[in-house]
Amino acid sequence: MAEAQARQRGGNADDGSASAQNGVRYEVDGEIATITLDRPEKRNAQTFATWSELARIGENLPEQVRVVVVKGEGPSFSAGIDLRTFTSEGVPGQGSFSSVAADGDTGFEQRIRQAQAGFLWLRRPEIVSIAAVQGHAIGAGFQLALACDLRIVAEDVSFCMKEPALGLVPDLTGTKPLVELVGLAKAIDICLTARTVHAEEAMRIGLAERVVAGGDLDQAVKDKAAQLLSTNRDAAVATKRLLQGAQARTLEEQSVAEGIEQAARIKALFGRSG
Ligand code: ACO
Repeated sequence: MAEAQARQRGGNADDGSASAQNGVRYEVDGEIATITLDRPEKRNAQTFATWSELARIGENLPEQVRVVVVKGEGPSFSAGIDLRTFTSEGVPGQGSFSSVAADGDTGFEQRIRQAQAGFLWLRRPEIVSIAAVQGHAIGAGFQLALACDLRIVAEDVSFCMKEPALGLVPDLTGTKPLVELVGLAKAIDICLTARTVHAEEAMRIGLAERVVAGGDLDQAVKDKAAQLLSTNRDAAVATKRLLQGAQARTLEEQSVAEGIEQAARIKALFGRSG
């Protein structure tokens, strides 16, 4: 009962109806938020509404949340963009690529930026995001998994960056994390062939942190969340900030950044007030 009371559900942290309508389930349980793509009958295909919903969840994420789990209901994590977006009819109420293209370059780029907002917040230093990936993670589904800090995958996982095969580029923030994880050559290979990456390769090339049997996926994610919550919150935020900045800095600059973060930590832990 207490657990149920501690749990908030909803699209904007207090109302589940909007999320549910957009095929997304969202719940917060203490320091863990769980986002579930919830259109299993359509393999969790994503629409503009899905991305708006993800952005809305990010904007309204309660401050106490430290771990965000992103998962998909049913056999597939996500089969990517809803293919109706490519048709002239489009997704009811949301238009199609042809209607969005009619907005002109600026309008279209703005729509893409709005969609990307649903993915970008998953990298905030204040949280660690974990994608729990089973079955297909295609196109936008692959990119949603890439938007997370960590990927724990089931043995049946199959990643595929299908966009180039459809005449598109991956534009939902996935290209940078892919290159950072697997290197430029492997990223070119994966994207420009639109081939499928299965669990063993995903593990070997650094796409996945862990591969587990399908039935063990939820527990493996829970265990990882518990490990992540076992460290000091403020130190975790500062350390993630440092790690995220490391590649863009020289060793000397990174050492300076470490010193600045540590000084703040020591002041917070041992400084005298007043
Ligand atoms: N958009 C809309 N509907 C979809 C999508 C999608 N991306 N993927 C699956 N569905 C629907 C199917 O049309 C089918 O609906 P129906 O039952 O009303 O006929 C239902 O989901 C189940 O799909 P199946 O194909 O029967 O499921 P299966 O498990 O055999 O195959 C798979 C799954 C491999 C994911 C297949 O559905 C597929 O190839 N989907 C398209 C993937 C794709 O090209 N995505 C776009 C990538 S590019 C991007 O994301 C930008």
